[in-house]
Amino acid sequence: MPSPERNPVWFGINIDPGVGGVPLALELVSLSIHPLTFFLQLDWPGTTYSRFLDAVAAIEDEMRRIMYEKRITGGDGGDVLSMLMQARDEDDGSMLGERDLLGHAELLFIAGHETSSNALAFTLLLLSQHPQICADLVDELRATLKGAAPSVEQLRQLPLLDRVVKESMRVLPPVVWNSRIAVAEDELGGQRILPATEILLSIYHTHHMAEIYEHPERFDPARWEQHEYGIFEYNPFSGGPRMCIGASFATLEIKLVLATLLQRYRFELIPGATVNRFVAATMSLRPGLPMRVFPQDRQFQRGVGGLRGNLREMVELP
Ligand code: HEM
Repeated sequence: MPSPERNPVWFGINIDPGVGGVPLALELVSLSIHPLTFFLQLDWPGTTYSRFLDAVAAIEDEMRRIMYEKRITGGDGGDVLSMLMQARDEDDGSMLGERDLLGHAELLFIAGHETSSNALAFTLLLLSQHPQICADLVDELRATLKGAAPSVEQLRQLPLLDRVVKESMRVLPPVVWNSRIAVAEDELGGQRILPATEILLSIYHTHHMAEIYEHPERFDPARWEQHEYGIFEYNPFSGGPRMCIGASFATLEIKLVLATLLQRYRFELIPGATVNRFVAATMSLRPGLPMRVFPQDRQFQRGVGGLRGNLREMVELP
């Protein structure tokens, strides 16, 4: 039986990975990004959309219970939910209502979990297929960190780690598209846009434009040595006033996890594994990422090559 763990950052509650809120929340995350949830919104028994609504109702019940407990105990663990519950409008002093609190809590969970975990999976996959880059990265990490987890200050002194993370999110962005709704009539690329038209923007295609990136399908962290790309060229977190609110946090989190894991472990792809992309609101791997984990023995050549599946259409792999 897994032991409950503290999760002070988000909701400040004890989380047991086996029961209640966690499986529910994970189901909500996977249903919320399912194409059928977006494109077939029929609340009939058994449909994906109906299961999504059931998961939303169940997780909202759970969140209400947590909020109720916080109110009666006056509990404030310094977590995000407590902060939201205590936040007051600067102008009129009003507080968020229950619907707003539920909406914020769910969005933070959905937006913050799937994206970062996919970015991590893509980066581990890319490193496993680029042994020299992985070797150089492990050297950099060990030289600076000497086996310890990095401080925020030390993370700034790891240029290759920075380039690897940037390049991974360029070639395989965890969010491949986003959208905007036109507030007024306009013209874009010779196309007339009517007010209220929804326009889909492809982060993936921007990141793979040969006009911007030489050999766009190549995983080449060194390209960031010479060049910083602008927001219209590189935008894994989108741009403008509605860009990802968690961009800095996510980058920090991904670097911290990679720096800690790679000093201790080597991740080896299972030879001949088939890995396909699954694109919905985010891009993920199906059926996951089949890897073996070894203590960091620097055998970086092992498990290189032989990957099958349509991921090969997006990135050059040995
Ligand atoms: C690698 C990880 C992540 C990627 C690639 C990513 C990407 C994105 C993108 C592309 C958007 C759409 C922005 C737009 O429409 O302009 C977005 C929105 C958002 N993200 Fe992230 N995200 C990541 C991690 C996170 C994390 C960790 C959090 C929470 C701590 C988060 C919270 C949000 C929220 C709340 C929004 C909605 C912002 C709004 O509509 O104003 N994201 N993200």
